[in-house]
Amino acid sequence: DAPILKRVTGRTKVMFILGDPVAHIVGTAVLNEDFFRNGVDANVSPLHVAPQDLALVLQAIRSMQNVAGFGVTIPHKVPVLQYLDGTTPRAGSIGAVNFVRREANGSLIGDNVDGVGFVTGLRRNGIEVAGRRVLQIGAGGAGRAIAFALAEAGISHLAICNRTQAKSLELARAVAARHPRCFAAPAGPEAAGYDLVVNTTSVGMHEGDELPADLSGLRPGAVVADVIMAPKTTALLMAAAAKGCQIIRGKEMLLDQPRLVREFLSL
Ligand code: ATR
Repeated sequence: DAPILKRVTGRTKVMFILGDPVAHIVGTAVLNEDFFRNGVDANVSPLHVAPQDLALVLQAIRSMQNVAGFGVTIPHKVPVLQYLDGTTPRAGSIGAVNFVRREANGSLIGDNVDGVGFVTGLRRNGIEVAGRRVLQIGAGGAGRAIAFALAEAGISHLAICNRTQAKSLELARAVAARHPRCFAAPAGPEAAGYDLVVNTTSVGMHEGDELPADLSGLRPGAVVADVIMAPKTTALLMAAAAKGCQIIRGKEMLLDQPRLVREFLSL
């Protein structure tokens, strides 16, 4: 709104979020609000970039000297990797990037704060993942980021299952290379025996979707988290709440992202 826009001057650090489409992007407003509240002189705008133009736009950004960095969203999170000069170790492991820092010489370094944002979202709700037995459903983009972050946070063990089993096997193997207590789930998505169940699939977004996991064996003290933003409370979360379990909604993983982005971009 006006008070934020009036603060944009020649000294302001400029940022973008690159996506295609961009109409749904709300992360720009969230970041601008966070910068305003924290007295950070930076401003973010959505940039609508088609996949075939990504290389050209990145080349241009290298020479834009007041650009601090940019976010990337669908469909650029994986393709952007090939044009960067480097990544943080976690973005490299995940194989996808959601924020890029532009260094003074124009170099572009990618990071991925999706997974760590998810873990801090749990912490904000009083849930410490260390020592927990975790079942993760899904091995797509969000699933990859979350699996590495959970393993990093010291879970007791992490079982991953996915509709396409080859992907959960590959992800479990990649995470296990550094965190041996990660494996592909021996059975289907069954909640029995776990302290934390995390849905990272899109199952539950649409009315009439089945539950992504079988909650029949879920114990009352367990926690169930979903990455789906809309609906705010998925059928999975409603079923878990009905069993007396603590639930974590999708938006929780986004709340800490502005701080993580400020840190990564040194704002
Ligand atoms: P995102 O970046 O949001 O994680 P993605 O990379 O396309 O999106 O991953 C979507 C995840 O939801 C995958 O784990 C996908 O399973 P597959 O690897 O088998 O495709 C899962 N998913 C999507 N629709 C599903 C469905 N109807 N049933 C089960 N899993 C589904």
